[in-house]
Parts: sequence; structure tokens; C-alpha cells
Amino acid sequence: MPLRFQTTRAVPDAIDALVVGVFADDVADRTVPEPLDASYLSAQGFTGTLGDVRALPGASSGKTLLALGMGRRDELTASSYRRLGATIALTSVRHRRVATTVLSVRTEPVDVAEAARAFAEGVVLGNYRFTTYKSEFPPCALERIVVVDDGGRSTTNALTTGQAVADAVCIARDLVNEPGGTLTPSVFAERAVNYGKDYGFAVRVRDERAIKRARLGGLLGVNRGSFEPPRFVELSWSPPSGRPQATVALVGKGITFDSGGLSLKTTAGMKVMKGDMAGAAAVLATFCALEATRPPVKVVGYLPLTDNMPGSDATRIGDVLHIRNGTTVEVLNTDAEGRLVLADALVLASEARPSAIVDLATLTGACVVALGSRIAGLLANDDVLADGLLAAADQADEGLWRLPLAEHLRPKLDSEIADIKNVSGDRDGGAVVAALFLREFVGTGIPWAHLDIAGPADSTEHDGEIRKGGTGYGVRTLVRLLEDFPSGLSGGRAPGAG
Ligand code: BES
Ligand code: MN
Ligand code: ZN
Repeated sequence: MPLRFQTTRAVPDAIDALVVGVFADDVADRTVPEPLDASYLSAQGFTGTLGDVRALPGASSGKTLLALGMGRRDELTASSYRRLGATIALTSVRHRRVATTVLSVRTEPVDVAEAARAFAEGVVLGNYRFTTYKSEFPPCALERIVVVDDGGRSTTNALTTGQAVADAVCIARDLVNEPGGTLTPSVFAERAVNYGKDYGFAVRVRDERAIKRARLGGLLGVNRGSFEPPRFVELSWSPPSGRPQATVALVGKGITFDSGGLSLKTTAGMKVMKGDMAGAAAVLATFCALEATRPPVKVVGYLPLTDNMPGSDATRIGDVLHIRNGTTVEVLNTDAEGRLVLADALVLASEARPSAIVDLATLTGACVVALGSRIAGLLANDDVLADGLLAAADQADEGLWRLPLAEHLRPKLDSEIADIKNVSGDRDGGAVVAALFLREFVGTGIPWAHLDIAGPADSTEHDGEIRKGGTGYGVRTLVRLLEDFPSGLSGGRAPGAG
């Protein structure tokens, strides 16, 4: 049952719980809003920090009364509302209809539409559960969220947008959480076809024969050790009217399970590798949010899909693969497979000469070592595109940090027998080396950015709107980037990083 959001000017009667927002400043001054009780809250140790929540007794007519901390007034941002929404979802599992005042008590600089969008995202994301394989799970009663606010139409629209974006994020989460044995490349492609029908975008699927005809040697090389045939999915969406300002190509790594191939991973290393298609999932999910957000740009997507298995005909260490553009790659570690499938996808994307290419990939453990598990690495050949992504990630409240395309590491990819090799031979700057490899396959003059999402694509813990397992990282950032797509991209030349 999908959640329903609604706005009203006054607190309605027909609700099961009322969540009253309260600032930490007011708890300290004992000036909490009606009908909260300042002495009771203080006695309960309630301080009003963001996401702090406490039930109060004595509400009439069987309604539950909850105090929800909003933090300090001068620290409230639109993104705070994502956390507030998630907290409400997580504490309201037994209430069907919940009303809240958190939006009407916002401070002046916080934009009401931004806050409402973030709030709806938070509710939907906090409410997410992956139940496909649970025989039994505790039911969730939450059906309706009544937002008390005087903003009218624009608030309602923003809630609807936030809900649609978060629903898309949940699609990415479902794909990441689905085991590798069931979400095979062909099943992933089938799901893409169905989402295309449901959400209004075009989908083209290349099967193994078409992939061979298209000479996608990187994808075929990674697929060689697998029982499951590969797929290559292309997505396309155009704005309903008028000429689009630009065409943005999104590329997503789609390794449905990464065993490492003959360079076999350990059991512990494989534990999260059903999620090695998180880049492809984020791209597909972003397309599911386009009809709801209607960005002014045309969007195309490229998803190379295969698992990476050590079957008896697997790519051997030292084999040479032919990428679609003719570049030969010596494979010295079959566990560096993401860059091989992305090489073909970047070449295909470049052939259409888009205004920009953005790829998302769970590409390196080195990036997790560098930035931790909440922040993705950004590597780009264009400063305007990079800044646009950093701004989009900031608004979406997804961690993103730019790393340099350090030229001094490039010679480490020189091969004795082929044009390039797929690994450098040491661990130095692993995330940078991987990005330098990808850069080789981006068409000259095309602005390109690479997001290494190996860290934030899944989470080992629950934390507000972030739930254990797949996070759907990147969807919110991509949607923002497309909505506010920067003009004046410089065309693929960023100042050298040395
Ligand atoms: N899918 C992994 C990267 C990864 C690691 C994602 C941890 C999420 C969590 C990728 O295919 C991989 O195995 N990379 C290797 C590259 C190395 C062989 C150069 C790595 O990071 O060890
Ligand atoms: Mn790998
Ligand atoms: Zn991988």
C-alpha cells in the first residue's frame, strides 16, 4: 500500500498520532509548543536534538502525542527534514494516520518546497524494507501523512516530487538487495523493460548475439566464465515538449555478482558482491524518476550487465580483450572487471556525442579506504560538470568528494604486450588508477565524470533514512543534476592534476 501525503492548515481530528516539532532552543528555554509539556519532556531527558523523539502521555481521544526534536533553530536546513521524515516513519509503524507540524514551524531561510521534498523522501526511505524473502515480517500500519502547513499547492507538489524520487531510490535498493543468483543479467534487463513501460522511458536490450555483433569485448571477456549470458541495456527519455538543452548519458556498472573471476575473492570479500550492480541500479532508478521531475535535458542510459564468475572458460590472467573502439587490454587481474565492462559502455555512450557522460560504479575497495563507507569519490575531466555534481550531491545530502585524475599514475597502466593493462601492479591510488583507465574510453572533448560508489552503495547499519543493505545512493544526486543541469561545460579538459 503506497503512502499518501496530504497538507492541511490545521491539525485534523481523524488521526492516530500527532508529531509536534520542537527546537532544542525551546526545550532549553522551556517554551515548547502546545500541547507539549516542557517539564515532562525535560524529566524524560528530551533535549530536542534532530531526530530525538519522545511519546507523551495523556492525549485525549486515544491519539498518540509525540515530540520530535528539530535541533537548534540556526542549524535547521532543508536536508534536516529528510531525517525528520525518516524518524516519523520509523516511530509510527503502529499508527495508520499521522499528522505533523514540523513543516509549519520551520525557520525563515529554509525553503518550504525544498523542506517538503526532503521530508517526503525521508518518510518513504525510512519506511523502506526488503521483505521479498521474509516468510513473516511485522506489519507497518502507516498509510497517511498529514502535513500541517500553510504553503498550499507548492508544498503538496514538493511532497509528491519527494515521494516519487524516494520511490525511485527504493527501486535501486530492491535491485541491490536482490541476490545474485536470482537477479541475473537477463532478469535485470527484463525488470528494466517493465520499469520502462511503467515509468515512461524507452528500453532497448541487446542479447549475447547482439553484444557480439557490437564487439563489446570487455563485457564478453568478463562474461566468459559465467553460465549466465550477458545483457546490454540502453535507456532513453526526452522532455515532453521543446528542444532539450542538452543530452546527458548515464552509465552504470552492472556486475550482478562479482566473485572476482579466476582472481577469486574470499568469502568475506564476496559477501556484498550481489550489490556490484548498484551503479546500473541507480541509473535505471533515476529513469524511473524522470516523468515526475521532468528535467530540461534528454537522458540516455547504458548498462553493461554480467556476473563475474570463475567458470572453466573464464578469462585467464594475461588474456587480451578487444574493447569496442579497438583498444586492446591485457587482463592481469580478473577482479578488476568493472572497468572492462565500463570501457565498452563509455565507448558506446561517446559515439552518440552527448553533452556529458556520468558513470556510476562500485569500482574499487581503494575508494572505500580513502573516503569511508558514506562518501563516494568523484573523478572528472571537466570542472563545471564536477561542480554541478558536487552541488547536486549537497542538495541531495549524499556524500561526494572530488579526487584528482593524477597524471603521474597513468604510466602504471602501460602494458608490455597490449595497448593498456587493467591493473597497475601495486595498490597506490587505486581509485584514481581505475578512473584513469576509464578516461581512456571517453570520446575526445566530451565532459565526463565518474562516481566511485563502492562505499555508500550499501550500508552495514540502519541510520535514519539509510537502511541496512542497498542504499540507492546516487539516484537523488543524479535527479538533481539533471533538473539543474549546468550550462557552459568546458568540453573535457580540466586543469591537469599533476
Ligand atoms: N566490485 C569490486 C570493488 C568493491 C570492493 C566494491 C568493495 C564494493 C566493496 C571491484 O570489482 C574490485 O574487485 N576491485 C578491485 C580492484 C583491484 C583488483 C585493482 C579491488 O578494489 O580490490
Ligand atoms: Mn571485482
Ligand atoms: Zn566489481
